[in-house]
Amino acid sequence: MRHSEDTPFSVNGLTVAYQRKPVLDDITFEVPEGKLIGIVGPNGAGKSTLIKASLGLIPKVRGDVFIYGKSYAQQRKMIGYVPQRESVDWDFPTSALDVVMMGRYGHLGWFKRPGMTERRIAMECLAKVGMADFAGRQISQLSGGQQQRIFLARALAQDAKLYFMDEPFVGVDAATEKAIITLLNELKKQGKTVLVVHHDLSTVKEYFDWVMLLNVSLIDIGPTESVFTAHNLQTAYGGRLAVLDRTPDALVMTSR
Ligand SMILES: Nc1ncnc2c1ncn2[C@@H]1O[C@H](COP(=O)(O)OP(=O)(O)OP(=O)(O)O)[C@@H](O)[C@H]1O
Ligand SMILES: [Mg+2]
Repeated sequence: MRHSEDTPFSVNGLTVAYQRKPVLDDITFEVPEGKLIGIVGPNGAGKSTLIKASLGLIPKVRGDVFIYGKSYAQQRKMIGYVPQRESVDWDFPTSALDVVMMGRYGHLGWFKRPGMTERRIAMECLAKVGMADFAGRQISQLSGGQQQRIFLARALAQDAKLYFMDEPFVGVDAATEKAIITLLNELKKQGKTVLVVHHDLSTVKEYFDWVMLLNVSLIDIGPTESVFTAHNLQTAYGGRLAVLDRTPDALVMTSR
């Protein structure tokens, strides 16, 4: 296993359990730089857990995670994280601009308060997601899709090299989804690596260069055309997926 400084994200033997029940079992992989990578698997597969454990937000049973060859603690400035929306306390009394400014804290030295530059960068990021007019609004008073955009703006403000986004498309309208995917492609053009938890199997091929299929174990990871196969999807989703036409494009979820 290489822990090269050129590899944005590598995971070695990662095992995570809640109350002794393993939810991630011996996960090992690495991803190349400058790719958009979809993380795909059923509810409860451990997708959010993989991100949280990699960022040190929850403890792991064993295994190592390397961000550009070093530990998360050493590289936190390089990482942008958009959490799954339900996991955020939206009643926290803070404005949209404040939330985006939080993305800049890693760039400030000790005892430095955010100044004009930080504010300008935060406003630019709000503008990029079409939310400049809402800068002063309390986040609790924004719609779900608007909140999602604020979190995206915060991740942009971080100016990270490696991004983790947990279901950024959930609850957003079609126009916002297009805007987000355009932003993700811009990040990619800048050489950044973006991992995105994604549930809509019909857009996986269009959106992602690489796919990780996860269900407690790692089923497969690699270029979309070789990994996003009917066979791998059956393994990931088991009986909960009906395959029509034998092509992944025509997969539908059954309601079992
Ligand atoms: N705080 C917790 N305490 C106990 N079990 C948990 C906790 N958080 C998650 N789990 C369990 O761990 C497993 C993986 O959860 P996780 O949130 O990583 O799934 P996921 O793949 O992100 O699912 P979804 O698509 O629904 O977001 C699930 O079985 C879940 O019930
Ligand atoms: Mg999740």
